Amino acid sequence: MVCLAPMAGVTDASYRQFIKRLAPEAIVYSEFLSTDALAHGSKKTREMMHFDPQLERPFIVQVFGRKPEHFVEAAKVVEDMGADGVDLNMGCPAAKVVSSSHGSALMKDPDLAAELVAATVKVVRIPVSVKTRLGWDASDDLVAFGRKLVGAGAAALAVHGRTYTQKFTGKADWEPIYELKRHVNVPVIGNGDIASAEDARAKIGNLDGVMVGRGTFGNPWLLRQICDALHGSDHPCKAPETFEERIPFILDHCRLAAAIKGEKWGMMEMRRHLASYVRGIPGAAEMRAKLVRVESVAEVEKILGIGDQKHQ
Ligand SMILES: Cc1cc2nc3c(=O)[nH]c(=O)nc-3n(C[C@H](O)[C@H](O)[C@H](O)COP(=O)(O)O)c2cc1C
Repeated sequence: MVCLAPMAGVTDASYRQFIKRLAPEAIVYSEFLSTDALAHGSKKTREMMHFDPQLERPFIVQVFGRKPEHFVEAAKVVEDMGADGVDLNMGCPAAKVVSSSHGSALMKDPDLAAELVAATVKVVRIPVSVKTRLGWDASDDLVAFGRKLVGAGAAALAVHGRTYTQKFTGKADWEPIYELKRHVNVPVIGNGDIASAEDARAKIGNLDGVMVGRGTFGNPWLLRQICDALHGSDHPCKAPETFEERIPFILDHCRLAAAIKGEKWGMMEMRRHLASYVRGIPGAAEMRAKLVRVESVAEVEKILGIGDQKHQ
């Protein structure tokens, strides 16, 4: 199992579809969505869930919150719109999220966490999974926490190998995730710091899958390479070696974003990806300064030198 990690502000429909073009077997997650907003019928939050069933399956919608009755309402909406699973966020460390007792804060309240899973499982037929971290400030309680979630009906667990207090610092520790897998009878997916197919092969250990987030920035071929590595493919996918060879893919990503979100909004969302795509190439700083202001695909083409001798 190879998953594109849920990432707020990143894993919208265009990013998911772009990744799926390159890695058709990948499981893709939505950005996290508020159960409070979904329960209150927020149109904007519903729109953020929009996906293309032909191009994005298996598609998991991730939700966050703390009120069981809101998880119930949100999960029904997720199921009705045709998603393949609903994932409960118990790992987000953002101050705003944790201060409302959402996300990572649920690791400190295992009873409520289990209640949220149980309430959700009761009302939907699609699998209910949880994405969490090693723990609040240590990994000592991960096995007990995971077992409790599974006892409440969680069909799978994805674990980012850092604690809440680490946020994104230090190195992800996968050992406690391997230990968790020895104590639960559902799929366990490891997450944290996978930057190459070799990393995935080295880290998967006894786990059922890997989940990758930041490693895909500027390297959308990574999930395909990981699928190939885990299957022992004789012809593993290679990322295009030169920047010139990457340009058609970058433009493909831009066109997808423009088609799904409208050109102006789509290009605004593309800016961070464009900055990642030029990372490390000669003249990157100058190009990045222009790319983070683009408003149209034509501008991107011009900056990347399409039709220009330099990139012929
Ligand atoms: C920009 C960004 C947004 C994220 N948003 C979410 C989110 O909405 N839900 C979630 O569970 N994790 C979120 N994460 C955490 C990732 O899913 C993942 O656990 C983390 O980045 C570690 O994996 P990586 O080293 O492969 O990036 C986010 C991470 C980043 C960098």
